[in-house]
Amino acid sequence: MHKVALLPGDGIGPEITAAAIRVIEAAGVAINWIELEAGQETRKQRGTPLPDESIKTYIECGVGFKGPFAVEMEDAMIAPRWRKEGPGGGPLRSYNSVSNALKMEGGGYAAVRRARNFDGVPAPIQGIDVVIIREISEDIYIAHEYTSGDDTAVALKVITRKASDKVCRFAFEFARTHGRKKVTVVNKANVLKQTDGMFVRTARAVAREYPQIEFEERFVDASCALVVSKPGLLDVAVMPNQYGDIMSDLCSAAAGSLGLGASANYGTEASIFEPVHGTAPDIAGMGIANPVSQILGGVLMLRHLNELKAADAIEQAVKDALRVPDNHTPDLGGNGTTAKLTRAIIDRMARA
Ligand code: NAI
Repeated sequence: MHKVALLPGDGIGPEITAAAIRVIEAAGVAINWIELEAGQETRKQRGTPLPDESIKTYIECGVGFKGPFAVEMEDAMIAPRWRKEGPGGGPLRSYNSVSNALKMEGGGYAAVRRARNFDGVPAPIQGIDVVIIREISEDIYIAHEYTSGDDTAVALKVITRKASDKVCRFAFEFARTHGRKKVTVVNKANVLKQTDGMFVRTARAVAREYPQIEFEERFVDASCALVVSKPGLLDVAVMPNQYGDIMSDLCSAAAGSLGLGASANYGTEASIFEPVHGTAPDIAGMGIANPVSQILGGVLMLRHLNELKAADAIEQAVKDALRVPDNHTPDLGGNGTTAKLTRAIIDRMARA
């Protein structure tokens, strides 16, 4: 039996993780879910949204399944002190969100986020099938910030050759092992010649080791335009952290809804699987959240656990259920509910 750390999250998190667990159980995979304390309620009770023992247990499990967590601008940084050194032997670090803390403490180096159209799902853009591979340990996103006096705020954008090499190598290996033809490095190196320049130069060096895979460079603004104008030109796209955060929401929404996008965050010590979106406070508790993002996060987790048959069965059932407009939740233009779409997915697995 697999042991998985479970963090249901805030807002719609508990609703969609419960749905995803029902689907995973219906696929016949035995998982011992270890539910961890985290989130807004924990912050009220414990003074932190992510107690040290939750991080420790997550690392011990080696695999986590999480919903989205709320993050407010006023929130204090999360400062774990459960070990003497930071992940990988560096200094202890502090984090701007529960999600970032879990990814970084697990030695996170790459997130994989696939955005694609589904048959039967209306979408602003058709023809999307892009895999975004996002560096997750550095860049401006991890918030090395300080103020200088009352009126100036500074954030450091740090890019290292080591982290860039690791994620670019991961992207080419992903392309090779998944039959993908092209890797695009998304960047703004025309302006950020040192930081993004380092990322691009590293990508070029890795690309030379993969002559069978086409390699191209595109600026991030032009890449966003391409998602709308010619999405078929993007295949696997590798990029620094901040651009990955933005482009994965763009691609998911363009392909139909944020409620369809899932994310796998791979780390040297632990890996965690989640939806790409946030807590959707506008629809929390209404029973109408789209559970597909969380369910597809579960599919990515099952592949990581080598439960390939169950992963394939769930993915196929999701596709089949989405073909029927009657199952669609409001984000897809329908009147369906979380429970109805979840039931439709489970029914299709039972019929297969
Ligand atoms: P959001 O992604 O929660 O919502 C944006 C819009 O998409 C909303 O209209 C929402 O209803 C809709 N939406 C998102 N997921 C959906 C689903 N599964 N089904 C149907 N509709 C869905 O973004 P927002 O409002 O900017 O963020 C809310 C909170 O989530 C914030 O506190 C933010 O910091 C946090 N957040 C957490 C993330 C994480 O834990 N990984 C990632 C992104 C945001």
